[in-house]
Amino acid sequence: MYSKSAMILIFAVALISLTCGSPIDSAETRADTFSRTEKLTDNYTVSWDVDRKTQIVKFTVVADTEGYVGLGFADSGTMKDADIVIGGVNPDKTTYFTDRFAAGQGVPAVDDKQDYTLVSATEEPGKTTLVFTRPFATGDAKDADITDKKTNFIWAIGSTDDIAHHADRGSFAVNILEEPSTGSTTTTTEGSGGAVNLQISSLSCALTVFLIATKYLY
Ligand code: HEM
Repeated sequence: MYSKSAMILIFAVALISLTCGSPIDSAETRADTFSRTEKLTDNYTVSWDVDRKTQIVKFTVVADTEGYVGLGFADSGTMKDADIVIGGVNPDKTTYFTDRFAAGQGVPAVDDKQDYTLVSATEEPGKTTLVFTRPFATGDAKDADITDKKTNFIWAIGSTDDIAHHADRGSFAVNILEEPSTGSTTTTTEGSGGAVNLQISSLSCALTVFLIATKYLY
């Protein structure tokens, strides 16, 4: 039969291996869902929610314009071969939103296959917000797949809702599937018994330290 101290020690070691040394602390573990926000420039911010299980990304774009808002995905970082969406709110409050492709500089052509889903387009004085979703891969050659590697957002805003030359534009290098470096995430890992949600917490480690201390006190 084990002594009380031995039992505490065994329990503490088991707890350490389950928590402090668990894969949730390792760089290899990736959250199934995460959210990230990047301010591409003073007047244009993109936030996105990634769901690796459904392979869907929800984008929220907030731009300082009452004209059109464009967001594109392009390895080139330019309009060349860019997968682009353009949306906005007309003066009569109707909304518009299209999935497009730009072969180069000029008005991006509307794709035959529309693979983005508009959730909402709203406008307040001086500001337009677009919320839309898309799958990682659409199967359309005119769209860029979202993969775990660096690409570029390209962005543009119009001074009006006429889809014509932009008032401002730019590009921003990003790996869309890379989590933000700071912030708390809830990690889901698959165990033999199914999915187990583990909240990253220092509580278990603190408990372990307490138990070890207890062992030496008695
Ligand atoms: C709507 C019609 C559009 C027209 C007629 C147009 C035209 C042009 C032209 C002539 C240039 C070169 C001059 C300059 O720098 O301004 C350019 C550059 C650029 N445009 Fe557009 N554009 C359009 C839409 C867009 C959209 C929707 C985006 C992003 C979503 C975009 C992103 C860019 C970027 C990043 C550049 C600089 C890199 C490059 O030269 O390709 N444009 N555009």
